[in-house]
Amino acid sequence: MCGIVGAVAQRDVAEILLEGLKRLEYRGYDSAGVAIIHEGELKRTRRLGKVQELATALDESPLPGGTGIAHTRWATHGEPSERNAHPHISCGDIAVVHNGIIENHAKLREQLTALGYEFASDTDTEVICHLVHHELKSHDTLLAAVQATVKQLEGAYGTVVIDRRDPERLVVARSGSPLVIGYGLGEHFVASDQLALLPVTRTFAYLEEGDVAEVTRREVNIFDIDGNPVTREKKESEITHDAGDKGEYRHYMLKEIYEQPMALARTLEGRIANQQVLDTAFGDNAAEFLKDIKHVQIIACGTSYHAGMAARYWLEEWAGVSCNVEIASEFRYRKSHMFPNSLLVTISQSGETADTLAALRLAKEMGYKSTLTICNAPGSSLVRESDMAYMMKAGAEIGVASTKAFTVQLAGLLMLTAVLGRYNSMSDEMQKAISQSLQSMPAKVEQALGLDDAIAALAEDFADKNHALFLGRGDQYPIAMEGALKLKEISYIHAEAYASGELKHGPLALIDADMPVIVVAPNNELLEKLKSNVEEVRARGGLMYVFADKDAEFESDDTMKVIPVPHCDEFMAPLIYTIPLQLLSYHVALIKGTDVDQPRNLAKSVTVE
Ligand code: M6R
Repeated sequence: MCGIVGAVAQRDVAEILLEGLKRLEYRGYDSAGVAIIHEGELKRTRRLGKVQELATALDESPLPGGTGIAHTRWATHGEPSERNAHPHISCGDIAVVHNGIIENHAKLREQLTALGYEFASDTDTEVICHLVHHELKSHDTLLAAVQATVKQLEGAYGTVVIDRRDPERLVVARSGSPLVIGYGLGEHFVASDQLALLPVTRTFAYLEEGDVAEVTRREVNIFDIDGNPVTREKKESEITHDAGDKGEYRHYMLKEIYEQPMALARTLEGRIANQQVLDTAFGDNAAEFLKDIKHVQIIACGTSYHAGMAARYWLEEWAGVSCNVEIASEFRYRKSHMFPNSLLVTISQSGETADTLAALRLAKEMGYKSTLTICNAPGSSLVRESDMAYMMKAGAEIGVASTKAFTVQLAGLLMLTAVLGRYNSMSDEMQKAISQSLQSMPAKVEQALGLDDAIAALAEDFADKNHALFLGRGDQYPIAMEGALKLKEISYIHAEAYASGELKHGPLALIDADMPVIVVAPNNELLEKLKSNVEEVRARGGLMYVFADKDAEFESDDTMKVIPVPHCDEFMAPLIYTIPLQLLSYHVALIKGTDVDQPRNLAKSVTVE
């Protein structure tokens, strides 16, 4: 949440900061701002709304200067407004941008007010700039003042501080919110995501938890939590294409839906040989970690949680290991039981989701035998702190609504099923069948994308609807959940998902002509049960949209529109049935005229709890 960019260079940095913010806008988009030091003065421009508002303001009144910080905000404390937008400034000297939540901000605000500081915003962040200003009265350097400041902060922060009296220096601190340093030639940059800096550098080093660094044009000095100088490994960015570009597509979401065949092909590359999924898909030493596993605990949030829910069906039925799946924000705050030989699996597109990260840390304290993350962000906190990582290689996902990340997560989890199955009760035939299914996924997804026009026409029916119900059974129930999440997230239609066997236990009461019911119906052993549930809806005057295998023998009539989905095997069916639901939510959002890529109130990377 919130995007941060900073730069110290010999040239004007406003353009670099602005381009960085545009690339980070998916992280938060309710207001944006920039502060730049020029000729000993701190100049700031902030705007409510998207980064474009700020860009227009900077066009009208440019801010020259070679040292600056910038921020795009997702509000936590204080409404979205210009006065709450970052950077925040103390006494005209210190400017600060911050990502995270300072939990003890109220107490610090009281102390600082008693010291004579006047607060100009409702944010938790503002305490940081006044604290740094105050600490500079008893410390010689900005670095020392920031080190003294962060000792007083409770909560999560990624923060960058500048001082107009020390104009060629950024001081950055990380605890709980990611920060990366970008290395240029005679210039340096910082950001909350390397994506922001790709136009200016490809060499990055991630700060570790508790690190504070001072960054000048010529050097970067990093100190650990105890103040000891440390080196953090510099790496070349692995991002091979520039994700900042929508190409021919109207929205990132559509582009990312259409990228799924390619993303799946990439995730499979080098991970299947001799009709078997290789252990090394999960890291070089994965065999050692996986061979004795008898139980899997999956932790994730949102869409990633739905991927985990689907995997539970596979791990228990096909791999022969028991599996629990839990939402990270619940797991981290309750006492749970750990079975012997348990593997903890986190699933996360961003690798920085605060609740998921906290759950991983808790699981490590609890003594899980090993930890694995299914993650799309190399170098992210989850990757660095887990024993094993399945790198999704889906390519950057910019649309807030997760699409290609979900299907690639499903593919990764199916591979995990095959590998754990091999160490437990899975036959060679089944391993072979799973490998074949995985390899044919990209082509099958391509076929499913062919439903786009039919679904665009169908979407018209939803334009005047306020509610929708999604039904599925077995491993299609999580797919129904994901379909409902997509629809509510980008079209603001209230949508709920039910395991269709649950209908008669309450939700049937909701059925009427204004409640469209979307059914996912592959041709599997639960089909006949699902058909009975469809009849229950029909008998109550419900209007249904059934995504069904062509052999499932559903017929369109007055009460039901049947959309035939390409025939597919049971291993890939959840993934294939996801595609039409993604397209449906996209087209409904288009008709409703909502902001598809940046839906209201949301952010892509949820780095606060
Ligand atoms: O980065 P993560 O996968 O950990 O994010 C978890 C959720 O915030 C995320 O999946 C969210 O639900 C999606 N943006 C919904 O489309």
